[in-house]
Amino acid sequence: MLKNYQIYSRKYEYAVFNNFFKKLETKDFVASELFESIKLLMGNACANKVKKSGLENLHNFIPCEYLPFLVKILQKRIDKFFLHFSVLFAKKKLGLRKNFFVDQSIIYRIHYPFEIGKKSNLKKANYLKLNLDHYKSAKQQIKNSLKNKNLHQIEKRFKEAIKYQRNLPTAVWCHGPHKDTWFGHSYNGINIWYAVAGVTKKNGVILYPSISAKNLKHLRSPNYIAPGQLLPKPIIPAVNNGSLLIFNSETLHATRINTGNTTRIVITTRINPFKPTFYDGTTEAEYPSWFSAQDIEKNIFESPISFPRKENLKLKKKTKKTPIKSERVFVINKQLPQKEPVYICKSQKIKNNEKILLKFQNRQIILFKSESKFHALSASCPHVGINLIDGFHDKKSIFCPGHGLRFDVKSGFSECKSLRIKIFRIKNISKKLYLIN
Ligand code: FES
Ligand SMILES: [Fe+2]
Repeated sequence: MLKNYQIYSRKYEYAVFNNFFKKLETKDFVASELFESIKLLMGNACANKVKKSGLENLHNFIPCEYLPFLVKILQKRIDKFFLHFSVLFAKKKLGLRKNFFVDQSIIYRIHYPFEIGKKSNLKKANYLKLNLDHYKSAKQQIKNSLKNKNLHQIEKRFKEAIKYQRNLPTAVWCHGPHKDTWFGHSYNGINIWYAVAGVTKKNGVILYPSISAKNLKHLRSPNYIAPGQLLPKPIIPAVNNGSLLIFNSETLHATRINTGNTTRIVITTRINPFKPTFYDGTTEAEYPSWFSAQDIEKNIFESPISFPRKENLKLKKKTKKTPIKSERVFVINKQLPQKEPVYICKSQKIKNNEKILLKFQNRQIILFKSESKFHALSASCPHVGINLIDGFHDKKSIFCPGHGLRFDVKSGFSECKSLRIKIFRIKNISKKLYLIN
């Protein structure tokens, strides 16, 4: 049985368990707790409408502004259930026998379709000022918070995250590619990602197992992957609702921008077969509180065990790992003019399938050749501005290395109506390439 654990947790692998939850009727339990939580927050009529329509249509009934309150109510109702569940799963499916640890922090992720959620006025800064325990005054609190101009006193790391997310509402926030250890979670952790409702390939988690063992560099606050590292095609595992995905906390992963028309509801927990140890290169949040599996089984929740980061750092051996490939950059020391062709280079300088980043003073453009055809497109993703140069491409599409949005390289359209990139013309005259704006 230990073999399972080794496969899933040590080799940056992932696995989907389709039937485990079904047997325990977890899906029904979570759904009924969600309906109860909606009832408390929004009233009977709203809960009945959601029940009739399905949890995946939550966005049609509950404005984004109320989601932080809903999550808080739900969390209080089912946190303990999920702690028990994590123990049961780790024993039955991962073969963990000895005592192991379960992270106290269980995360409830309700993610609205991008085109709907982006319209909300409640941004992260407002959300941080709400008293979520007082859900009865939710309406008034939201109103006051939207009027509150004094929102600047928030922690630096939140300010940086808000900047990264371009101040979009939290209901559509997406994590860029990261390892959880960069965000303060423990090494050797096994992430349990439970799909409650509305999960599709258009809003799932993106995994990059094939490069997770490489020497990846990350930014600071938020600690997402640093630019200049070419990503492979994003993998979005097919996880049916009611099923469960597990992956190692060192596997590079990101949130897929929700381009579908369903609300994605996911609950995540983390287990660790060892004493948790942490990465010293981060200033992100700490996750020191854990329960032992034995305590959970005995319903002892009063005194979680504390593993503060400072006292439990993992000392890494310095090994020489090869960095991952980056694409070539051509710096063009002038502004990109309107309509006038600009000479770029001789056509044979561009290899098939390679992307080049053209850095003009006023704009960045990606040039690539596929099956003898040249393509040029705007490098900045219109979602939150990540440079597309590090994204996987083929002759039809380019995938954003931020949150996996796919663009058509001929039209510039993406799967999101409001997100489109500009396409430029390339002229090949006597084996010389010219770009036309
Ligand atoms: S999909 Fe988010 S920045 Fe491109
Ligand atoms: Fe993560």
